[in-house]
Amino acid sequence: MAFPPAFLDELTARNPIEEVVGQYVSLKRSGANLFGLCPFHGEKTPSFSVSPDKGIFYCFGCHKGGSVITFQMEIEGLSYPDAVRALAKRAGLEVPEDEQYQSRYRQQERLWALHKEAARYYHSQLYAPIGSSALEYAYGRGMTKSTLTKFGIGYAPEQWTGLTDHLRKKGYTDQELRDSGLVSVSRKNGNLLDRFHDRLMFPIIDVRGNIIGFGGRIMNADSSAAKYLNSPETLIFNKRKNLFALNLAKKSKLGYMILVEGYMDAIALHQYGFDCAVASLGTALTEDGAALLSRYTDQLVLIYDADAAGQSATRRAIPILERAGMQVKVLQMRDAKDPDEFLKKFGADRFRLLLEESANRVEYQLNAILKRYDLRDDDQKVKYLQESADLISTLGSAVRREVYGNRVAEAARIGPDAMKLEVERARKRRLAREKKQQEKIDLSPVRNLQPKSRAIRYDNVRSAVAEEMLLALVLQEPALLDHTGTLTAEMFSSALLGKVYDQLRSRHRQGLEVSLGGLVDLTAEETAHIAGVMQRRQGPVNEQALQDCVRTIQGEYQTGQVQTQEDLLALRDKLKERKGIKE
Ligand code: UTP
Ligand code: MN
Repeated sequence: MAFPPAFLDELTARNPIEEVVGQYVSLKRSGANLFGLCPFHGEKTPSFSVSPDKGIFYCFGCHKGGSVITFQMEIEGLSYPDAVRALAKRAGLEVPEDEQYQSRYRQQERLWALHKEAARYYHSQLYAPIGSSALEYAYGRGMTKSTLTKFGIGYAPEQWTGLTDHLRKKGYTDQELRDSGLVSVSRKNGNLLDRFHDRLMFPIIDVRGNIIGFGGRIMNADSSAAKYLNSPETLIFNKRKNLFALNLAKKSKLGYMILVEGYMDAIALHQYGFDCAVASLGTALTEDGAALLSRYTDQLVLIYDADAAGQSATRRAIPILERAGMQVKVLQMRDAKDPDEFLKKFGADRFRLLLEESANRVEYQLNAILKRYDLRDDDQKVKYLQESADLISTLGSAVRREVYGNRVAEAARIGPDAMKLEVERARKRRLAREKKQQEKIDLSPVRNLQPKSRAIRYDNVRSAVAEEMLLALVLQEPALLDHTGTLTAEMFSSALLGKVYDQLRSRHRQGLEVSLGGLVDLTAEETAHIAGVMQRRQGPVNEQALQDCVRTIQGEYQTGQVQTQEDLLALRDKLKERKGIKE
């Protein structure tokens, strides 16, 4: 939805970026900028900068950046309009909402209320005579009465329209019932029917405490139906952006979080005192899920099932979690297929022991390598040693390299010194490779200047540098926008930079604030790129500098216009060549 530009200016003015960021990050001034530890990735030395004058933040480490609104979105995981609303609330501003938003929000509120009503209904059925065998099943699986209450567990009876009738009685329309995903439309006659039949019901609750969907488990082992049936995606339910039990786990005092595969695993962990457990919702962990988790912790213990599927999911989840800035430990289930079974078999104390010795990433990866080779075969043994040495050589600490090196040597029954030599050799190779790569970067200004993301790569770097400079200039001194003459957005070699120029100029002409905060229609990545440009590009701010930029952009544009077929071919060869260097 679009907010009036004048309102956004007021919002930005009333929410100084250093104050808003300061609520989350402790900042220290250094010159015109403030610096602190980046809240978006783990780091020990501050590379996160805030510029009060420019109204932007930018991290030189993870390259996130943008306006105060972007910051609010990223740090709280909010959509653009919700971030605007949060900032408005903070500054005591009234939000001019449009009709469309209001009706959408009302619709959401109705669905939240509907789900609460459904949960109440399911929960009451669990204790009604019709739910007696479901209750027995729940107790049989070790859930206590207080766990049933805490998680709001319920029972969907074996009926066609039990829930449908109940919700209709409570005043929900057929349209709302369909929108909720809790009922489906009969193909035969178009009647509404309950979606869940004869299942134990697990409410799924978002971090704000709204019930947004359900998972339902069959209890009859002979049934051919899927073991778990989940709510479909709806206006209020997005599987990738929510985690089961996070509403409870986010309050945990344990200081870390446990990520498991199943509802039952998360529930058992909570019941046994590990109140920091969450489960993904019948899908693999996504970037969204990891980002959500990283808002609450940077210490994650991953416990997926002991089967092959669980192991491969583990391998895929590790990099996703690490990229979100988390330290990942992996706990391997032994003598049980999942945490639920383990706790019931061996109890909380044994589980705690397992947690304490749970392997970190390196240990886990070394085990994974070990499993791939048969050490009785000499060839395979050598390969095992080399691959392990490669991995160990990535460790920054000499002590850790030695500890893990020794462990591998022992497994392969070779002397620790031989292994040490192998690791050091791998390390030298790695360092040489990295040095060469760094040199290539330093010597090649073209690569250095390219945006991180391929989606916004520059075609004409010479022009793009001038374009970046020009934007940095006018953002610092908007009056310069009166002096760009005949320069138009089409002349920009980068569509993104041109678009930004266009928006800034038209804002200036309308007498609006010329700032990053006022830009619309940019992706998070594009906003971050522009913020980075502004933090990096420095120099005198005057008309002379501006005219230099304008001349370069126009000159490059004209050259591009008259380029003959031959030139284009030559350019293509050159680009190919450059690509060759890059890869
Ligand atoms: P599991 O089969 O490991 O479930 O699936 P579980 O939690 O251990 O269940 P119990 O112990 O047999 O009761 C892990 C998760 O995968 C999703 C569910 O989210 C489940 O919790 N799943 C599984 C489905 O969505 N559909 C299915 O048919 C099975
Ligand atoms: Mn299980």
